[in-house]
Amino acid sequence: MLPVNPPARLLMGPGPITADPRVLRALSTPLVGQYDPWMTTTMNETQELYRRVFGTANEATVLVDGTSRAGIEAALVSLLAPGDSVLVPVFGRFGHLLAEIAGRAGAEVHTIETDWGQVFTPSAIEDAIVRVRPKVLAIVQGDTSTTMNQPLDELGAICDRHGVLFYTDATATIGGNPLEVDAWGIDAVSAGLQKCLGGPSGSAPLTVSPHAVEVLDQRRSVEAGIREPGDDVSDEPIRSNYLDLAMILDYWGPRRLNHHTEAASMLYAANECARILLEEGRDAVIARHETAGSAMLAGVRALGLGVFGDLGHKMHNVVAVEIPSDVVGDQVRASMLDDHGIEIGTSFGPLHGKVWRIGTMGYNARKDAVVTTLAALEHALRRAGHAVPQGGGVDAALDVYAGSPVGVPA
Ligand SMILES: Cc1ncc(COP(=O)(O)O)c(C=O)c1O
Repeated sequence: MLPVNPPARLLMGPGPITADPRVLRALSTPLVGQYDPWMTTTMNETQELYRRVFGTANEATVLVDGTSRAGIEAALVSLLAPGDSVLVPVFGRFGHLLAEIAGRAGAEVHTIETDWGQVFTPSAIEDAIVRVRPKVLAIVQGDTSTTMNQPLDELGAICDRHGVLFYTDATATIGGNPLEVDAWGIDAVSAGLQKCLGGPSGSAPLTVSPHAVEVLDQRRSVEAGIREPGDDVSDEPIRSNYLDLAMILDYWGPRRLNHHTEAASMLYAANECARILLEEGRDAVIARHETAGSAMLAGVRALGLGVFGDLGHKMHNVVAVEIPSDVVGDQVRASMLDDHGIEIGTSFGPLHGKVWRIGTMGYNARKDAVVTTLAALEHALRRAGHAVPQGGGVDAALDVYAGSPVGVPA
């Protein structure tokens, strides 16, 4: 039998993206047992690295084994007991996911919605908090389905005023856009590796404030078989065993209480993702994403393509490009993949068939990746019968990189 042999691809969709070769190398390093002193030291080090990535002093900063959705679910099922109320402002597909997960945790879910392509004002969220009086505000920071980046910096103070716990899903934003967990007063944040952190999916960095840990502690319940005299047993334990954050924190904490078998390879990957980011510097990485995103935006506009959504609130790392009416979106995507080895994204719900989503993130937030994608898109559009200005996209992107965005239509 032949070994697994994936094709060479440049992944320029909304995530996953091409993993950094350093991360792939880390993934192939030897397994070590989870209570080996090297491993426990590496776990502690990984916690410290992610405190710096998140901008937090939270002791409770860990990895949840699983994709980003596992991090979301761990946060929500652990903070929300059945019957607790949660407010979810929905501005895209992933807001609906938060509502769905909270509902399955037995919470009483209240949503407010805005049109896809828009974000909420802080006052709209505060008005809803006053009306609903939720225990938790759960909101996505960057909703990849619409490319919008919800401003969070004023929401911590609002939640504080009303005694509400503040959770956000930063899967799509972390690393490529500002996120300041402590300065913005966020109680719980979960993320993933597969976007601006330049890794594969499968590990969900998560951080929880001391106040949120107090809430988790109210339902702390150590499972039978490892329980010792004096350990907590709750009448109403957290409704998931695997994603029970209180138990996960005990496993990462000084007691190292046995829970799951550490996904060691993903721990190495997550550790390396954080190192890569911190070596370059958080601000420098965000600036690199901003430049790559601006270059891609300028490039697609210079090809004469429209861009979806409120550009004042677009994430740096993904753009939703309107599909011209004279081409079939999936055919152009297939040509990008088959002829150029480049993946760009389709879209969901009301945007399905209307926009392609092109990502410039993590390892691929690079000039050559942006320019190669634009050259391929120009070619694929022309081949599909759509007239495009020759070389315009590449030139506009290079102009952004050269610091002079000339020739970019407004
Ligand atoms: C904002 C956001 N949240 C959550 C997810 C779910 O992540 P995963 O597929 O890793 O579970 C995604 C995936 O694209 C996302 O973009």
